[in-house]
Amino acid sequence: MPKLFSGIQPTGELHLGNYFGAITNWVELQQEHETIYCIVDLHAITSDYDPEVLRENSVNLATDLIASGIDPENSILFIQSEVREHVELQWIFNSVTSYGDLTRMTQFKDKSEKMDFVSAGLFDYPVLQAADILLYRASRVPVGEDQVQHVELTRRIARKFNSRFGEFFPEPEPIVGRGARIMSTADPERKMSKSDHDKHAIGLMEDEDSIWEKVKSAVTDPGKAKGDEMSPGVANLFTLLELTAPESTVEGFREDHREGNLMYIDLKEAVYENLMSEIRPVREKKEELMENRSHVEELLEKGKEKARKIASGNMEEVRKMVGVGPT
Ligand code: AMP
Ligand code: TRP
Repeated sequence: MPKLFSGIQPTGELHLGNYFGAITNWVELQQEHETIYCIVDLHAITSDYDPEVLRENSVNLATDLIASGIDPENSILFIQSEVREHVELQWIFNSVTSYGDLTRMTQFKDKSEKMDFVSAGLFDYPVLQAADILLYRASRVPVGEDQVQHVELTRRIARKFNSRFGEFFPEPEPIVGRGARIMSTADPERKMSKSDHDKHAIGLMEDEDSIWEKVKSAVTDPGKAKGDEMSPGVANLFTLLELTAPESTVEGFREDHREGNLMYIDLKEAVYENLMSEIRPVREKKEELMENRSHVEELLEKGKEKARKIASGNMEEVRKMVGVGPT
């Protein structure tokens, strides 16, 4: 089975964008791949963060992932900083990464623009990502659109390493999921995002009343005549409905919209009901897991052991090829 790797930062709570855009994909991909999923805490420290809660956030994220259907028996699920080789390989990769390539990373440009203090770590972030993937010699990487550039850089790093030191790493392919791009309900022109959680994101574990408030007050339009194009807010509600409701329900609402007699409050109620039926089991599973937090920690321990085994074997080879120790 092809080997697949992906990572997610332990910053903030999971929202519906993460869930439908990434996690549900990760769960499906477990079927036909050898999957490795990593909570990338070393990536999180490149921007402002609170060291007091980082660990807790990582374990919490692991809990959410397991509740969502990541099966730690089938997938390797672990915390990045528990496997030292990630950082070691990053340093070696720094020497086969083009400085010019790094200066062209759009995520760095976007993020750094908004910061007072821009760390060198943030600039070097994509090289750590390449090390994450290639440490396990993974050939597939499920990511959102915004990460494709980083996977392409990973391919160039692998190529450069292989040509300099000998064939060792695969050139991994990105897998961009069904493309669910969930927009903020408060401002459907912008992506639902963690950084401005309160208004612009709906949390997977958020209080039910609060979710209903956000769905109910979702921006739509003043109501359109028959045949008018769908506004972004209404389209976003339809996206959420498509992801959670039976086809016949969606078709019914589409028909009403085409005819110009769709009541948005009915659409919102349907979105809320179907969304809750989809995520309620995840929330219940999470509650269960929370009662026995040490169980999640045990699962992470096991994941760490499995990851270490692969990482240390591969790193041994790499050190030999590069001519460095420890020997
Ligand atoms: P982030 O929260 O940006 O670290 O993203 C974690 C994962 O969720 C990545 O794979 C993103 O592509 C995905 N993601 C984040 N926001 C959205 C969104 N609004 N719609 C769809 N996918 C998203
Ligand atoms: N950079 C990714 C993000 O911001 C997270 C990430 C870190 C990752 N390492 C990875 C994704 C390796 C895929 C593979 O979402």
